[in-house]
Amino acid sequence: MKLSPVLRVLPSALLLVGAYCTPVNHYAKRQSSITDFIESEASVSINGVLANIGSDGTQAPGAAPGIVVASPSMSDPDYFFTWIRDAALTYKALIERFIDGESSLQQLINDYVSSQAYLQTVPNPSGGPDTGGLGEAKFYVNMTAFLGSWGRPQRDGPALRATALSLYANWLISNGQETLAAESVWPVIAKDLAYVVRYWNQTGFDLWEEVNGSSFFTLSAQHRALVEGAALAAKIGQMCDGCSDAAPQILCFLESFWTGSYIDSNINVNDGRTGKDANSVLSSIHTFDPAAACTDATFQPCSSRALANLKEVTDSFRSIYGINNGIPQGQAVAVGRYAEDVYFGGNPWYLTTLAVAEQLYDAIYQWDQQGSITIDSVSLPFFQDLLPSITTGTYTPTQSLICPSNDTHTTESPSYATIIDAVRTYADGYIAVVQKYTPTTGALAEQYNRDTGTPLSARDLTWSYAAFLTATERRAGIVGPTWAEPNNNVAPDVCTAPPACNARVTFNVRATTTFGENVFVVGQLTQLGNWRPDSAVPLSASQYTSDDPLWFADVEIPASTVFEYKYIRISDSGEVTWESDPNRSFITPEGCGSSATIQDVWR
Ligand code: NOJ
Ligand code: NOJ
Repeated sequence: MKLSPVLRVLPSALLLVGAYCTPVNHYAKRQSSITDFIESEASVSINGVLANIGSDGTQAPGAAPGIVVASPSMSDPDYFFTWIRDAALTYKALIERFIDGESSLQQLINDYVSSQAYLQTVPNPSGGPDTGGLGEAKFYVNMTAFLGSWGRPQRDGPALRATALSLYANWLISNGQETLAAESVWPVIAKDLAYVVRYWNQTGFDLWEEVNGSSFFTLSAQHRALVEGAALAAKIGQMCDGCSDAAPQILCFLESFWTGSYIDSNINVNDGRTGKDANSVLSSIHTFDPAAACTDATFQPCSSRALANLKEVTDSFRSIYGINNGIPQGQAVAVGRYAEDVYFGGNPWYLTTLAVAEQLYDAIYQWDQQGSITIDSVSLPFFQDLLPSITTGTYTPTQSLICPSNDTHTTESPSYATIIDAVRTYADGYIAVVQKYTPTTGALAEQYNRDTGTPLSARDLTWSYAAFLTATERRAGIVGPTWAEPNNNVAPDVCTAPPACNARVTFNVRATTTFGENVFVVGQLTQLGNWRPDSAVPLSASQYTSDDPLWFADVEIPASTVFEYKYIRISDSGEVTWESDPNRSFITPEGCGSSATIQDVWR
């Protein structure tokens, strides 16, 4: 602990200086220009969420009971679908409000349980109920499968849903309704957890539905879900097969996303990005445990790594958005998904800007619980943006003194209370950014324009409203229950991946080629180069004859996996020719070590 000489004598000198130095009470209600906004926007937000849920939601015509519509926007973009991810995060917020006393929400929560139990049975392009179908990202609002091409599978959905439902199941158990928990909620959770146990070590699409690889958000959500799921199963005498084995392995794998100064949000993919992505901030707030210390391993909001990462992610947006121009370091800015984003032109999003505020409020909650803030060399740059003179060390509230401004103490390293105050002001700044770019109606779209700040893309995005609710609840010190992070935050020294469960697929394509031309297979899987011609799998011409122009290759692909693919030819000068549309698709057989043969003709 680094204390200045003056501060070190303070505790004993307290009585003497007490007459003109008063302890800081950082809980004191401060006049803030955002409090009125928070009050009105919170009511717009809860109404905005409820309006988008079937069957009574005014903006959700045709949606089945308990189905969350992502946005009422039916074109440009068409978001009139239900995404498993958006719905789970929204219901997590609703269930927390229910636990906190909003009992009128229970019917809607029971509707969610029933709707998800049904969706788990709907065969879809990601597979059937036991063959990967739970990884499907979105369905029509009447709960039928969406058959168009999409970034699939997305493996965060089942984990996020299991977490939302575990919150509810635990509440039921604590409130004398164990049978309901065991018979109607647990079966849904159990299927989601079985999916996670089986597929966590396989690549999939990230939460932005763009990158097929390993996503930090997905794996963090999976870790939390398995930890909670194992505890819940034990409580009600059920089995959670493989949950306790997989959870520490996922935690171990999560380590590999840390670059030394920030989280690289997507790995095992050649995406040409820095990896600084709100993906990681959303991970931190989703796995926030109010009972946790500032654990780096689980990326808790107050951990040094998560704070260093918050700085790197927010800084990556400072210079690229016009509306952030001239905002100095240490002050809040508009935050998007990631700097390289081009969707709708690449803009800040409400939910990502709010997530940064939420992480900071979570961190304050954790510091207050522990009664100290430790600043180390990893988190120092984050704190220095807010308080330039700050140094590494541990700060506790006993040092918190306000002294007259001409007092010598003011030149000393800032106190605990000063730090908390600075972080809170910084967090409030992000709410103020959202306030600045929210129309007077309070409507929250998905994005706001990077140069003008006007709302963009899907209107009334359910997730934007849910993000507003959770960020401002954390600001008010309202938090959910623990998920037992304190007993589940140590990764094994060596990571052991589960044994691969692959099928051998033999691709055969008849394609008459000219000398110097080669044929490759490329598709929507890591094993097939993620649609990148430079990562495509080469086929062999060793059996090629003019009568039978065969190109072939064996590729190991996870069993029970649906994928799309095409053949391409690449000339010796590197020119790529694609087969004509549509994409081809295939599903690998069930069972590790199984095999399948594909016979195609170039088209
Ligand atoms: C690309 C976007 O970046 C992604 O987030 C979106 O979901 C899909 N397109 C579909 O609209
Ligand atoms: C696009 C976002 O990138 C994705 O995360 C979200 O699930 C959908 N829109 C629906 O809101």
